[in-house]
Amino acid sequence: EKTIIKDKLNRPLHDLRISVIDRCNFRCQYCMPADKFGPDFVFLPKTALLSYEEIERLARIFVNIGVEKIRLTGGEPLLRKDLPVLVKKLSTIDGLKDIGLTTNGVLLPKLAVKLKEAGLKRVNVSLDSLNDELFGNINGRGIGVKPVLEGIEAAKQAGLGVKINMVVKKGLNDTEIIPMAEYCKNNGLELRYIEFMDVGATNGWKMDDVITKKQIFEMLKEHFELEPVDPHYFGEVAKLYRYKETDVNVGFITSVSESFCSSCTRSRLSANGQIFTCLFNGNGHDIRNFMRNGATDEELSNRIAEIWNGRDDRYSDERTAETYKNRKKIEMSYIGG
Ligand code: GTP
Ligand code: 5AD
Ligand code: SF4
Ligand code: SF4
Repeated sequence: EKTIIKDKLNRPLHDLRISVIDRCNFRCQYCMPADKFGPDFVFLPKTALLSYEEIERLARIFVNIGVEKIRLTGGEPLLRKDLPVLVKKLSTIDGLKDIGLTTNGVLLPKLAVKLKEAGLKRVNVSLDSLNDELFGNINGRGIGVKPVLEGIEAAKQAGLGVKINMVVKKGLNDTEIIPMAEYCKNNGLELRYIEFMDVGATNGWKMDDVITKKQIFEMLKEHFELEPVDPHYFGEVAKLYRYKETDVNVGFITSVSESFCSSCTRSRLSANGQIFTCLFNGNGHDIRNFMRNGATDEELSNRIAEIWNGRDDRYSDERTAETYKNRKKIEMSYIGG
């Protein structure tokens, strides 16, 4: 018997984003800048991470109170050992309709088939440029485009749904807006342009660095004919369009210029077992220690429901220079986007 729980703004709990690791093999400027996440940076120790058994247990409880969709994130989730084992466990949960993964793609050639066999449905692959030099500069590790394209191909071959995420930052990769559109359109890939967000305290975000959906749309209109498309599901993050006379979509994630908090049904679980109720709310709620100290399923369920009931976050709706300065921040790589 499913119970429906709502938060203070009447939003149901539908999605769970689970970060499985806080490490990454990239150092993207807008997420884990190399100078701030250097060789001495202290990541979570292994014992702090939720085990796969613990994640499965919590996921079952979340599904029991309304979650239908789970997305695995990181850091880079494919760096967590034997990730297909976790996917397999999650895929046995009754009532869970969708399991996705957000990745930088370079480990997909090795893992795509195993992930698909374990029950993964979709991957969102991050790619910000098709130019090797620029991409290597953005990812902070000099990694070229080819390993990512090979990852995308491997995911397609394995039968996974594939979407592409491109974070757009002014003066950095705006020259790649049209080349990325062309590449994705020609390869039947749904590309989502993401407005650069003020997540965390390390990426030096300024409003001036943001290129909005409207600006990108104007650029696209000079090259392509686009028509609006209905969302795939209620509360979808991306606003979608289709290239006329094709079945290829292109989307925009407009957290800055057109916020979407009123339909935000997402809860986040960090790798060390804290629940976050908003990407921009750094006050996590511990669930790991509560569980490790012997809480029953019922106690865990009540605790999660209580956290959701108390939720009133709508950060992107309220974003101003003041809130940007004054809020307790949390890093993207820790919470998984
Ligand atoms: P699907 O729609 O299931 O394909 O996934 P998604 O687009 O929700 O997830 P993905 O991990 O690919 O995220 C794409 C971008 O949307 C990232 O930059 C996320 O940080 C951002 N995003 C996802 N959910 C939220 C949210 O609730 N609020 C904000 N502000 N950004 C979000
Ligand atoms: N603003 C917008 N998107 C970001 N991502 C990481 N950092 C930021 C940021 N500051 C994106 C990644 C990935 C997704 C999980 O979040 O590129 O696609
Ligand atoms: Fe790693 Fe993704 Fe962050 Fe880049 S955006 S540093 S690939 S977690
Ligand atoms: Fe949800 Fe917070 Fe993003 Fe608004 S800013 S959509 S409340 S995660």
